[in-house]
Amino acid sequence: MNIEPTDATLGAVVTGVRLAALTGDEWHAIESVFHDYAVLIFPEQYATALEQTEFARRFGEIEHLYGDSGVVPVSNQRSDGSLLEDEDPAMQIMRGNEGWHTDSSYMPLAAKASVLSAHVVPMAGGETEWADMRAAYGALDETTREHIADLSAYHSIRYSQAQIGHTDPGYAGYGFDVEEPPLRSLVKIHPVTGRPSLFIGRHAYGIPDLQPDDSEKLLRDLLDFACQPPRTHRREWKPGDIAIWDNRCVLHRARPYDHAEPRSMRHTRIAGDPRSEAAAPVG
Ligand code: OGA
Ligand code: MN
Repeated sequence: MNIEPTDATLGAVVTGVRLAALTGDEWHAIESVFHDYAVLIFPEQYATALEQTEFARRFGEIEHLYGDSGVVPVSNQRSDGSLLEDEDPAMQIMRGNEGWHTDSSYMPLAAKASVLSAHVVPMAGGETEWADMRAAYGALDETTREHIADLSAYHSIRYSQAQIGHTDPGYAGYGFDVEEPPLRSLVKIHPVTGRPSLFIGRHAYGIPDLQPDDSEKLLRDLLDFACQPPRTHRREWKPGDIAIWDNRCVLHRARPYDHAEPRSMRHTRIAGDPRSEAAAPVG
C-alpha cells in the first residue's frame, strides 16, 4: 500500500490496495492515516454500491439519507440517462453543495465521515475540493481564537438553501424538517485525535451572543480565511475513484460544471458518535 500526501495540509492518495478486499493490516493502516490526513483518495477502485457501503461501514454506522440504501446518488442524471433540469429540487441541493460545508451539521447528529465515488465525470469542472479546519484553527491569531472560544452557531439547511434562492416551501429535502436547528460550538475537538478545528460552513448562522450582522460577518470572514491554500486540496475525478473525508474537521464543496454534461457520483454518509457529534442542548 502506497500513501502519497497531497501538497496541502490535508489529503493523501492511497494506491496499491483494493478496498473491496482489505486485509486486517491494510484496514488498520487506512484507519490510522485517515486520522492523519482527514481525506483519503483511492483511485481506480470501481467499487459497487455494496462494496462502497461495506467500506463505509468499517468507519461506523451508516446515516440513512433517503430510505435504507447505503448509497445516495449525487447526480444530474436520471436512471434512464436523461439529465435533470436546473430547477429540479435535487439540482438545487447539488448547487448548494458548491458552497463550503460539512455534511449533516444541520441534523441533530452531525456526520462522522462521507464516502464519495465517481462514475460519470464531465470534461471540465465538477471537481471536489476539501479544506482543513484543523490547520485553519491553527492559523488563527490569538485574538480571534479568544473571541470564538465560547461561541456557537446554529446550523440549518433551510437557511443555507435559502441563501442561494432555494426556498421552495413544497420541497421536503433531507434535513428540511428539522424544526429546532442544532447549536454547535465554532471550535470542535476531534473525538479521536483531540485536535481543535473550526466547525463552520454554509449551514452555520445566527451566533446567539452576537448581533445578526456581526455574526454573519464573523462566519464569512472565518470561512474566507479558512478555505485558502495551503489548507485546500482539489480532486479532478476519474470514474472508479473513491474518497472518504472526516466531516468533523474538514469542509468540502463541489466545483461547478456544464450541466449539459452528465456528472454521476455516489455518496455514503457515516453517522457521528452521539457523544461527540450531537448538538449542544438548547436553553
Ligand atoms: C457530498 C458533496 C460534493 C461533490 O457528496 O456530500 O458535497 O463534489 N459532494 O459532489
Ligand atoms: Mn456534502
